[in-house]
Amino acid sequence: MSFEKKILCIGAGYVGGPTMAVIALKCPEYKVTIVDINEEKIRKWNSGELPIYEPGLEEIITKVRGSNLFFSADIKSGIKESDIIFVSVNTPTKTFGLGAGMASDLQYWEKTAQQILENSEGPKIVAEKCTLPVKTAQAMERILKTNNNGAQFEVVSNPEFLSEGTAIQDLLEPDRVLIGSHRTESGLKAAEEIGKIYAHWVPREKIITTNLWSSELSKLVANAFLAQRISSINSISALCEKTDADIAEISYAIGSDRRIGSKFLNASVGFGGSCFKKDILNLAYIAEGYGLREVAEYWKKVVEINDYQQERFVGNIIKAMFNTVVGKRIAIFGFAFKANTGDTRESPAKFIVRKLLEEKAILSITDPQALENARIDLAGVEGEITFERDPYRAADGASAIVLVTEWDEFKTLNYEAIYKRMKKPALIFDGRNILEHQKFFALGFNIYPIGKPSLTYLK
Ligand code: UDX
Ligand code: UDX
Repeated sequence: MSFEKKILCIGAGYVGGPTMAVIALKCPEYKVTIVDINEEKIRKWNSGELPIYEPGLEEIITKVRGSNLFFSADIKSGIKESDIIFVSVNTPTKTFGLGAGMASDLQYWEKTAQQILENSEGPKIVAEKCTLPVKTAQAMERILKTNNNGAQFEVVSNPEFLSEGTAIQDLLEPDRVLIGSHRTESGLKAAEEIGKIYAHWVPREKIITTNLWSSELSKLVANAFLAQRISSINSISALCEKTDADIAEISYAIGSDRRIGSKFLNASVGFGGSCFKKDILNLAYIAEGYGLREVAEYWKKVVEINDYQQERFVGNIIKAMFNTVVGKRIAIFGFAFKANTGDTRESPAKFIVRKLLEEKAILSITDPQALENARIDLAGVEGEITFERDPYRAADGASAIVLVTEWDEFKTLNYEAIYKRMKKPALIFDGRNILEHQKFFALGFNIYPIGKPSLTYLK
């Protein structure tokens, strides 16, 4: 079968996989290939057991894989035959050298640019999907311009705004698609080419075009703003716990103001995920680089409050358990950084679990999708941990349940039965405020929510 255009995506991760699956679904006349250096991951994408869990993804993959969606480890051939290349490799925070702990580690990204250069013969559009420091496209262009084999490149920025757990829905009905390009004739043409892909299912007015740097920076700023809302509400949750105000009532009251809006105002144990912290630190690092110290300090506070919230949560657990958890069994409900994903990157659960282990608690961790990653994350960590798919068994003999992830499954368990299996007094720390606190209190539990008065028999 001959295809109108050949699209390649480098990086078959949480972003590349779902994004390309939806493009393949909506653009049957385009051939979409996803490559990755990780051959095992590619094998999984080609198997019945996908490497990531995302609601609705498997159905789409089953429909389009082998028709116009292909997974391959042959990066060179993929680059050679493609017209459009999306780059979706990971850009974690640097752990070494200059900018360690703040700047993006661009080594994979640069290696990818080199690979594109070495294997290209004809003209290509390169679209950055991964979050990058502003002006990275310029660096990509510099690398790509060092070729002498006649290949021409136009670099555009097309950041992804999908949220894990709702990735497919976000891709099918995005609030907007953002495409940044040079305002030159070839730049605008490249942006139009990328826009044409999304126009298959996204209304044209939702496809926003900007200059290259605005697009790159918008991605960082969008994540920084979202994270800032969570840190803002979490900071107020601390005040609520001191004043008997209720954070859920406050979220509702302020969120009803249309200027504020109701989304992203759920107080929690803190935000996690691969993007928020990384992107804010990156933003702060860029601001510092331009001598804008106040701007950098302002955004860094969002991360500081997030750390504070997690520390506060663990502090509350220990305090409520009579200032010692030594030898006490605690069930951890949820290890993923949010519901409906198996992803545990930057999950608050990691911090909470480590702290409780340092205090010599005995932990049983349960999660519907993230136990495999939890095992990897906690390999080598000292302390007594068991991993238990069945939440009832996880709660067996436990003195406390610490709810970290807002899985629906945790809302509908038979807590009367769980209460019977637990050691008394039985405590629940609801790090997501998803349980029915009054009802649970009536069952005999001592309940400690976030930003609300606790309900306890332990006076
Ligand atoms: C990635 C970036 O981390 C994020 O900054 C950006 O906003 C979106 O893309 P994600 O898809 O969640 O996010 O990352 P991950 O699931 O780690 O996938 C990246 C993939 O790239 C991995 O499968 C990795 O093996 C692959 N990769 C990495 C390459 O194929 N080549 C490389 O040189 C490096
Ligand atoms: C985020 C952005 O939303 C998305 O646009 C971008 O492309 C990637 O980064 P993601 O990290 O997948 O997506 O999930 P998101 O739903 O934003 O949640 C991030 C974290 O914030 C999670 O730990 C979540 O539990 C937490 N959160 C979210 C809260 O604590 N309270 C809220 O009200 C909302």
